[in-house]
Amino acid sequence: MTTSTEVRISTKPKKVYKSVAREIFNLTHDSPQPRFDIVLSGGSTPKKLYEKLGKEYNELIPWQRVHFWWGDERCVSPDDENSNFKMAKDALFSCISIPEENIHRIKGENNLEKEADRYTEEIKKNLNYRGENPVFDLVLLGLGEDGHTASIFPDQLELFGEKRICAVTKHPLTGQKRVTLTGTVLNNANRVFFVVTGLSKSMRVSEIMNNDEAAKLLPAYYIELKNGSLIWFLDEAAASRIK
Ligand code: 6PG
Repeated sequence: MTTSTEVRISTKPKKVYKSVAREIFNLTHDSPQPRFDIVLSGGSTPKKLYEKLGKEYNELIPWQRVHFWWGDERCVSPDDENSNFKMAKDALFSCISIPEENIHRIKGENNLEKEADRYTEEIKKNLNYRGENPVFDLVLLGLGEDGHTASIFPDQLELFGEKRICAVTKHPLTGQKRVTLTGTVLNNANRVFFVVTGLSKSMRVSEIMNNDEAAKLLPAYYIELKNGSLIWFLDEAAASRIK
């Protein structure tokens, strides 16, 4: 059961990124933990957060102890503008000194079914387990306007009861294929931070926060940690419809 759920509302997006960056600093800087496995989200929202981490925390966070993974990737090459890896590389990795072996990207340029298997093996080899599933220390998630998170879309809710670690999905509108971590693994994390900004997300946020019937169609509603803490980092616009 999610041990705690918190909603932190900041006036504007840049304050949201400040708050999340601070939390990541507190998590990594003060802890004796030898290693942190952090899952990055893609899309456009987290880019400014990664830039802030790269510019303001490049000397402050013990990057040699941080391993980066992805919640999902698009079926594109790592230098493609649509690549979640490229976004994080340009915004964050280009500003910090981190061992290359600490960056565990999803190879979107490969056959995705084979890549889902390969990424699963890489996770199994590297991560601790709780019960039958690997445990990430922190998972960053975004929220799509259709309520999707990672690349789990509304017609793929079965991925929350899934035994697999990774799955291949398809964007319902664009048909673009993706590799995504399954809901089972996301819900086994020690911490999940939703980073959500803007009015366009406010309806889905309110459906989930107000526990509306409509929320039951939304993948993000099923982020329910088995044994961890969940924080929603929202700006006022995204939170504007919460009752
Ligand atoms: C992706 C993401 C996805 C994203 C949402 C929100 O690869 O697209 O991982 O889950 O977080 O689509 O995207 P925006 O931040 O661009 O609104």
